[in-house]
Amino acid sequence: MNLSKKEIIDILKSDDTEILKEADKMRRQYVGDGVHLRGLIEFSNICKRNCLYCGLQSQNKMVKRYRLTKSEIFDIAKNGANDGFKTIVLQSGEDDFYTTDLLCSTISDIKKLGVAVTLSIGEKSFDEYRAYKEAGADRFLLRIETTDENLYMKMHPYADFHNRKRCLSDLKKLGYETGTGCLVGLPGQTLESLADDILFFKELNADMIGIGPFIPHPQTPLKDEPHGNLDLAVKVMAITRVMLADINIPATTAMESLRKDGRLLALQSGANVVMPNLTDEFHKKMYEIYPNKVSATRQELQENLAKIGRYIVSDNWGFRFK
Ligand code: 5AD
Repeated sequence: MNLSKKEIIDILKSDDTEILKEADKMRRQYVGDGVHLRGLIEFSNICKRNCLYCGLQSQNKMVKRYRLTKSEIFDIAKNGANDGFKTIVLQSGEDDFYTTDLLCSTISDIKKLGVAVTLSIGEKSFDEYRAYKEAGADRFLLRIETTDENLYMKMHPYADFHNRKRCLSDLKKLGYETGTGCLVGLPGQTLESLADDILFFKELNADMIGIGPFIPHPQTPLKDEPHGNLDLAVKVMAITRVMLADINIPATTAMESLRKDGRLLALQSGANVVMPNLTDEFHKKMYEIYPNKVSATRQELQENLAKIGRYIVSDNWGFRFK
């Protein structure tokens, strides 16, 4: 479906929640009742960036920093694969310790487990992205965070909005299933800019979109700002589903962290993916992008999904294009 900017803004403004039902219908029609799980490994919380909202920003001296070794990463991936996960997501801060060679050999080892590999490691050069792809990486997640260039500059000191866009277009060119997305409720963000975000997803023809409410982290400059509105974030997600009918959309952890059953609400409003955290308890606690990050086990998810007539897919990798 194609909605104009004005139509999107009107939906975002109104109290009407019909769009959630519409998105649920589209989700069922285009991607079915199966829910794909992506097993997340947070392999380093070291980051050279200073995104104002993120607890892992390099300015935050209160974080205990860690890096997992290649064999630690592989062991978590192997356990995940044995537990039935068909996708492993490797996520980290922007940490230059992991050279292209090290990442490529980690990727190719994990690929031998028969899983799809998604990377979520930030802005890199075309050649680096190409090397990971050749090593076997299938997908890449890089949220644009906001398409409002002024807001982007405020939120990301010394970062380059155009480079981020360049990264996304390189990823697409290289044949990655490309994921992006935005934060909802950043200080100073408008409904108009959220509408632009959705139009940007459409223009990029993104294969995956992750949307989450902003949650203030006490050790960041945004600590006293109000958190984003969950219902608005779910609405942005629902509109994204109706505009990009066949893509993969996660019920994001930030949604569940803000409201119990936020995940189920998302799954009934357009989402078809969940990303359980496979990182061990010790390191997981140190990967605090925002406070009170919840996590769910495969078992818990299975039970909750059954309640809403949904089930975990385990016989395919959950690519956008089958
Ligand atoms: N609240 C919610 N989401 C956040 N992210 C980073 N910091 C926060 C926060 N305080 C999101 C960003 C990033 C993703 C990995 O986590 O959108 O892309």
